[in-house]
Amino acid sequence: MAKQRILSGMRPTGKLHLGNLQGALSNWIALQNRGDFDCFYFVADWHALTSDYSATEEIRANTVDMVIDWLSAGLDPAESTLFIQSAIKEHAELFLLLSMITPLAWLERNPTYKEMREELSQKDLSTFGFLGYPVLQAADIIMYKAYGVPVGVDQLPHVELTREIARRFNYLYGEVFPIPEPLLAEVPKLLGIDGRKMSKSYENAIFMSDRGDALRKKVGAMFTDPQRQRKSDPGRPELCNVYTFHGLYSKPGTVAEIASACRCAAIGCIECKRRLAEAIAEGMGPIHEHRDHYACHPEEVRAIIEDGNVRAARIARATMAEVREALKIKHEL
Ligand code: TRP
Ligand code: SF4
Repeated sequence: MAKQRILSGMRPTGKLHLGNLQGALSNWIALQNRGDFDCFYFVADWHALTSDYSATEEIRANTVDMVIDWLSAGLDPAESTLFIQSAIKEHAELFLLLSMITPLAWLERNPTYKEMREELSQKDLSTFGFLGYPVLQAADIIMYKAYGVPVGVDQLPHVELTREIARRFNYLYGEVFPIPEPLLAEVPKLLGIDGRKMSKSYENAIFMSDRGDALRKKVGAMFTDPQRQRKSDPGRPELCNVYTFHGLYSKPGTVAEIASACRCAAIGCIECKRRLAEAIAEGMGPIHEHRDHYACHPEEVRAIIEDGNVRAARIARATMAEVREALKIKHEL
């Protein structure tokens, strides 16, 4: 039996941070490594234009940087298809067709749309493309007849809209698309070094590529339990972001030891962070080696992407042939 298909994408934000790694990316890798899915992962570079249409110069470099992080962390091009959205023009055609059948009200009531417009109020986001973001995302997903879409909670409204759009297409033109399921993973809540949500735009992120002094400096600057002013004050590890990171990067024995040493003020925050920086450096070591390799061999990265694009295009072409048939719009008369 053919394996069920999984599809997910990321906007090309450039180098990924540890929050991206522990959230989306490690979940993608786990799904790949289960071996019972055919995984498609892509860079949503057209989606980057929905909000950053006026600053496009970094999209290409960001795309490559992000794919290097994917590969370094363990996405394997022999197992997963890695591709670029803008290389598969069929996404644009399906987006156009879906836009004809998507009621405006569905887009206007999308909570992500409202939130993002407020959050990014300095940009003019009263564009057709920004409102249509979920329609493009729906095209991305149903193009590959994906069974499952691994996403974070923030993307659930988009997957829900995709399901509605797919159902509407099937109702109007016949059963072409399976209805995709969102696949939510448990993700640890990692904060940035200033205690806010880790985000590239907040400049509080620890990047996957950070190492050596840069890494030590960032870890040294991390917020801890705010009530622990002096080393003699007992701390509350369960409220400390440094401790959350220990849980991911230190050995279970060390994590338990740190928790109790913190609670009875036997370890200071400086020492605790020093040990964390070491644990992260050790855990990320193999990833950094892979990154060095790909950074020196851009032609390998290019070949991987080209191969992925070819594999994705094959499916997209077949789907669009079916779609044109269902819509009775074909150029062959
Ligand atoms: N909107 C997603 C994000 O911001 C990126 C994305 C675009 C996506 N197309 C997709 C995710 C299709 C899953 C499936 O993270
Ligand atoms: Fe946080 Fe470690 Fe300081 Fe405890 S000792 S408050 S866990 S940094």
